[in-house]
Amino acid sequence: MKNKITPTNKERIMREQDFIVSKTDPSGRLTYCNQIFIEFSGYSEAELLGQQHNIVRHPDMPRSVFALLWETIKSGNEFLGYVKNMHKDGSFYWVFATVTPSYGEQNNIIGFFSVRRKPDPQKLQIIDALYHDMLMAEKQAGSRHAIAAGRQVLDNVIQPTGKDYREYILSL
Ligand SMILES: Cc1cc2nc3c(=O)[nH]c(=O)nc-3n(C[C@H](O)[C@H](O)[C@H](O)COP(=O)(O)O)c2cc1C
Repeated sequence: MKNKITPTNKERIMREQDFIVSKTDPSGRLTYCNQIFIEFSGYSEAELLGQQHNIVRHPDMPRSVFALLWETIKSGNEFLGYVKNMHKDGSFYWVFATVTPSYGEQNNIIGFFSVRRKPDPQKLQIIDALYHDMLMAEKQAGSRHAIAAGRQVLDNVIQPTGKDYREYILSL
């Protein structure tokens, strides 16, 4: 469904008081979306629930960011990052997201949830340029090597700072 949407240059900007919240099962299928999620995605609750979270994926997002996201949350940690998402009408909206696992009684991962706030526009300029470089590297490397190539661009930016990914994101 999402592949048929043509991205546009129209941006939707989160308000200061907004929280975009969603929950998924362990495979990333939506089990809950709050009202603000529904508003920014442009889909109805019925259209969203049961769908993969990539329903809001924007083609400008590097694959390696999502690889890092899944690697982080599957190993039980909290992922923090900037994500460009796409509304049903092709417009885009940037979020600053935290994604974390939810645990069951046996300490097993029973799903994930995410809370997103309005990103600082100045920080977004840095991220937008970085994601652009990562995406170009991914496209050049071809499908099989895309994730490694995108990650390399990210590492090349972060390594000289002496920080890890999370510290780098928080230091912007
Ligand atoms: C709780 C949770 C929240 C997520 N939020 C987003 C999101 O806001 N936007 C997005 O594109 N992907 C999000 N993802 C990642 C998607 O599951 C998916 O990996 C990503 O859209 C890339 O899709 P693709 O692998 O089909 O290219 C989220 C995943 C989880 C578990």
